[in-house]
Amino acid sequence: MAEQKATNITWHGGQIGRAEREGVLGQQGVTIWLTGLSGSGKSTIAVAAEAELVNRGKLAYVLDGDNVRHGLNKNLGFSPEDRTENIRRIGEVSKLFTDSGIIVFTSFISPYRSDRDEARALFDQGDFLEVHVATDLETCEERDPKGLYKKARAGDIPEFTGISAPYEAPDKPELVIDTAKLSVEESVIALIDMLQQRGKLPSS
Ligand code: ADX
Repeated sequence: MAEQKATNITWHGGQIGRAEREGVLGQQGVTIWLTGLSGSGKSTIAVAAEAELVNRGKLAYVLDGDNVRHGLNKNLGFSPEDRTENIRRIGEVSKLFTDSGIIVFTSFISPYRSDRDEARALFDQGDFLEVHVATDLETCEERDPKGLYKKARAGDIPEFTGISAPYEAPDKPELVIDTAKLSVEESVIALIDMLQQRGKLPSS
């Protein structure tokens, strides 16, 4: 739990609520939290789902680990403490995006169960949908799209998830997708089905 440092601060409510923003957009805000190993396909299916939704006239947005670490979280590394802070900030950002009415896909390894649970706890019931991208380590390592597993095996990257740092799989994710078995298109359909079943998208 992050420490509250500032004092003398007061919450300031706006004139417009979430429902009015969602009315303007004609959709409901939600966060789809993708978790899984590096190379499991999180970002690939997130950007494909984002494109599919935008093509259907829905506003979606991807928050991606590698990208966010270039800006907002550029001062964080991969120690357990830094990963916790990474996920804490993204939990807060995705909560704000969700409150603005946007359909958010987060694509972070988010290896620690407790960090994901703290992110979930920020949201109203049903607004945080955890998706385990459960592609096995062997497949991720075989793909090695950024050559990082090779480096990690050679000892050049310390604390690499799955090799020298832990990954704690979710106990009760809303959805499991294994990209060793499903194509990108099938994975997108699974995500959209989940949103429809949970009343976050109208059934087509
Ligand atoms: S998280 O663990 O804090 O959630 P995040 O998703 O932001 O990680 O970043 C993971 C990405 O950073 C990986 O896909 C990979 O490209 C890169 N990376 C660099 N070093 C590491 C490392 N030690 N462990 C895992 N990923 C790493």
